[in-house]
Amino acid sequence: MNEIIELLIIIVPAYIANSSPVLFGGGTPMDLGKNFLDKERIFGEGKTIRGFFAGSFCGIVAGAIITMIHKSIFFSDPKTQFLGFVILAVGSISGDAVGSFIKRRLKFESGKQFWLDSIFFIIFALIAVSPIIKQDFYRLENIIFIIGLTAVLHPLTNFIANKIGLKRVPW
Ligand code: CTP
Ligand code: MG
Repeated sequence: MNEIIELLIIIVPAYIANSSPVLFGGGTPMDLGKNFLDKERIFGEGKTIRGFFAGSFCGIVAGAIITMIHKSIFFSDPKTQFLGFVILAVGSISGDAVGSFIKRRLKFESGKQFWLDSIFFIIFALIAVSPIIKQDFYRLENIIFIIGLTAVLHPLTNFIANKIGLKRVPW
């Protein structure tokens, strides 16, 4: 039970980083409108510079607050924990952009539904934090729990964001 709470805590900065661009994103796209070698957009209109920084910032603030009030079992000390949260936040929003890069190569238009959208960002963030997180974090049941939860929560939050008018499409 405690371990589940620890897992939930650790993914908060990544979730916040991934979801806040829906509120604060927009403006100049990260790829500056440029195309890749295949003549498709590098990332597309959905990945903006402001979204990247707003997502990173919100995730890092969440990580700082958590570090002040809770000692995670998955990091050796508070400094490493905060650094881990920074990596999880920036890793999550970077993974989101890498996911879009893959999507564009597969010729999916920006905003189109794609099964990797829901889980790629968290997998990317979990790999990015591997140099500093305790290695017993990577137990199979932990990974299945986090990816499974994300696969449910990501579509659900997108659906709700669409219903309350924050997002154009329900995915
Ligand atoms: N967003 C942003 N900057 C980012 C990521 C997201 O501004 N780095 C905003 C955009 O307004 C985007 C919305 O959040 O449309 C939803 O993000 P997402 O669903 O990840 O992007 P899509 O528009 O679906 O584009 P893609 O097909 O590339 O995933
Ligand atoms: Mg999308």
